[in-house]
Amino acid sequence: MDNNKIKIFDTTLRDGEQSPGCSMNLEEKLKVFETLQSLNVDIVEAGFAIASEGDFEAVKEVSKLAKDTIVCSLARANKTDIERANEALSFAKNFRIHTFIATSELHMKYKLQMNREDVLQKIKDSVSYARNYTNDVEWSAEDGSRSDFQFLCKCIDVAIKAGAKTINIPDTVGYCMPLEYQDIFKKIKNNVDNIDNVTLSVHCHNDLGLAVANSISGIEGGARQVECTINGIGERAGNASMEEIVMAIKTRKDILPYFTDINTKHIINASRVLSAVTSFTVQPNKAIVGANAFAHESGIHQDGMLKHNRTYEIMNPEAVGLNKSKLVLGKHSGRHAFKQKLNEMGYSLGDNFINEAFKNFKKLCDKKKEIFDKDIIALVDNEVSQQDDLIKLLLLEVTCGSTRNPLVKVILDYKGKEIEKSNSGNGPVDSIFNCINGLINNNAKLELFLINAITKGTDAQAEVSVRLKENDISVSGTASDTDTMVASAKAYITALNKLIMKRKKRNVGLNLSTKKIN
Ligand code: KIV
Ligand code: ZN
Repeated sequence: MDNNKIKIFDTTLRDGEQSPGCSMNLEEKLKVFETLQSLNVDIVEAGFAIASEGDFEAVKEVSKLAKDTIVCSLARANKTDIERANEALSFAKNFRIHTFIATSELHMKYKLQMNREDVLQKIKDSVSYARNYTNDVEWSAEDGSRSDFQFLCKCIDVAIKAGAKTINIPDTVGYCMPLEYQDIFKKIKNNVDNIDNVTLSVHCHNDLGLAVANSISGIEGGARQVECTINGIGERAGNASMEEIVMAIKTRKDILPYFTDINTKHIINASRVLSAVTSFTVQPNKAIVGANAFAHESGIHQDGMLKHNRTYEIMNPEAVGLNKSKLVLGKHSGRHAFKQKLNEMGYSLGDNFINEAFKNFKKLCDKKKEIFDKDIIALVDNEVSQQDDLIKLLLLEVTCGSTRNPLVKVILDYKGKEIEKSNSGNGPVDSIFNCINGLINNNAKLELFLINAITKGTDAQAEVSVRLKENDISVSGTASDTDTMVASAKAYITALNKLIMKRKKRNVGLNLSTKKIN
């Protein structure tokens, strides 16, 4: 293999999915996996098979779907975890078992309550046990970047002797500075026997906003695998963002002599599918995939761009799948034009999906004079996030004004059954949410409520995001509509649907009240 090829190990479905508000059900995970496959990532970490039934199923179903992609499951350093990972992965053409244990003094003492000798023994036992199932075993030193260097080298040596083919040194808490992280890799290469027979891997978290910088610095230190996630989702401040690393390598070929096999034209689609299924929206100024990443607003910049696009654009938007769309859609546009527009915007969606989205597009045209690209993105996101929902909004009526308390009527479809309620509250949004809570019993607290106008104009669609927290379950929902109250109701319902899904995973059913109250 070319020594400058960087393998992309995507952990959106494992480390990414673990983070608050980012959980996905099986269908959603498979949808995301399809986009990862079209990106041509080398390895997909599909879950942590032992963590839950849902994780096990996800690893299993991804394994069945995968063509050449290597499918991976995480496993702690014990036999049961490794057996469960193998069971789920055995459907895959190519698979990897990824086993890990913490190696820093802090983690060993307080979390594992193990001494160095115990940890070394665990590494030897777990890696050699995993090797009974596959030659492709990765070993990770959790909190590796904060571990004693001599001990870390000893652990790596044991892992290699036991048969690991990839050695990953995570910056688990996002603590390292780029040159410090690079130095760890350089020193490992100089201090561990047979290190050139394995692939070194970076895995960075973004607590200090350095995950991408650290990943690239680690590559310069000798790593040839990057662990990352779409949109940088992940624990706390997130993992290193795949699109940023891949585009940095591609754009700065002049000083970074590396390459990846990522088909970058699918980046926008992958980012949008992920934000739609998780309702975890990307900030507008996010590098590569944010709504403003290729927008030029100021007069000086626009003037420069007209004279030569390289004045203010370091990457072609087309390279990430953002085609400058020339098609303007309106109420007379047909399904064919709509489909072409979606393709130009970087979406690759199935026919059934397009048919449904097209119906909603026509409805939107009746409500809004001009249809902008951002309207279409919101429409497709709505469609993606509301598929397979248990609760659906059938009707919302709101009467409010300066001289009266708002009055709200809501009719929901819950598993094919109509339930309705009327209610009053402090304001229209409060009344709507109270009404829905009267129908779907829950103890969730509203943690976040955001309204954003998607485009300019008073007929713009409102995009509403809500985040709910019930006990330790945190979920978010986003929806858009030309009517702000409808968007609020739909976003709240999307979040409740996710709450149901998460509760189901833990076998706690929502207590549904079907009583008609008028
Ligand atoms: O951040 C981390 O240390 C991890 C390991 C389990 C690989 O995610
Ligand atoms: Zn991690």
